[in-house]
Amino acid sequence: MKRIFLILSISAITALSFSMTSFAEGDAVKGLKVFKKCKACHTADEGGKNRVGPNLFGIVGKKAAQREGYKYSKAMIASGLTWDEATLDTYLTKPRALVKKTKMTFAGLKKDKQRADIIAYLKTLQ
Ligand code: HEC
Repeated sequence: MKRIFLILSISAITALSFSMTSFAEGDAVKGLKVFKKCKACHTADEGGKNRVGPNLFGIVGKKAAQREGYKYSKAMIASGLTWDEATLDTYLTKPRALVKKTKMTFAGLKKDKQRADIIAYLKTLQ
């Protein structure tokens, strides 16, 4: 009985902190709309195809250049990056500022809010 209560309270806390985080950091629903800018090159569904860019399912928390069957630039392979909120934020601001010779030819998202929203959306893809 005690155990059930503990599990319930843990999940309540998790749910609460999750909604607080997503409120403070970005809106995943808006992020889905921003993702339209990425769709020309990326799929986001589980097991989705690699297009011009790699599939992005589960990207948050992963090391860069890990998607099977995708041919990354040497620069991305050598980057040694892990995609957390900070590295994603920098990369999406201006990809070439973080990974100089990346083959992601995307100018970047200049608005802080758009990046926060898209990162919140990417976090839901787990
Ligand atoms: C014009 C095509 C294009 C667009 C648009 C684009 N990307 Fe990319 N993206 C790429 C390519 C190509 C790569 C591989 C980069 C490399 O190997 O250097 C990549 C790589 C990435 C990576 C690293 C993936 C990994 O497995 O390490 C992330 C994260 C990413 N893109 C996110 C985004 C997001 C989010 C958007 C929209 C805001 C976006 N991209 C828009 C082409 C694109």
